[in-house]
Amino acid sequence: MTALDARALLSIGDFAARAGLATSAIRYYESLDLIHSVRTGGNQRRYHRSELRRVAFIRAAQSVGLSLDEIKDALDQLPERRIPVRADWQRLSASWRQRLDDQIERLRKLQDDLESCIGCGCLSLDHCSIYNRDDALSADGPGPRRGFSTT
Ligand code: FES
Repeated sequence: MTALDARALLSIGDFAARAGLATSAIRYYESLDLIHSVRTGGNQRRYHRSELRRVAFIRAAQSVGLSLDEIKDALDQLPERRIPVRADWQRLSASWRQRLDDQIERLRKLQDDLESCIGCGCLSLDHCSIYNRDDALSADGPGPRRGFSTT
């Protein structure tokens, strides 16, 4: 590393401040291999400024609702830890469009279901779609749909 390269590196405190995150979040992202640092001779972390773009990518993807595992999968598609560029963001974010559409549809359904619950309070297993939201077995008929095994 040249002296010029060394000056382009940020300490974890400076990097966290520029990213708008706590240093603990930076360490956590790094432990997940989402961002990367280099070490000084004294074993201190230093971050290339370009890693800030990875943090921006992570934060934007989280705001869409992606888990850190999903974000890691997306970042791992970039060759050799390359920093995501505009084209990467366009390609990856396009694949998240369906996910957002699905989330919006689920929220619309939740809003519709909530209308019948407002002022009710029964929380009935039989007909409250808020309380028993994912009752896939209800299509099989009323009552218990699974037997108990004694073995
Ligand atoms: S609380 Fe009564 S239907 Fe949901």
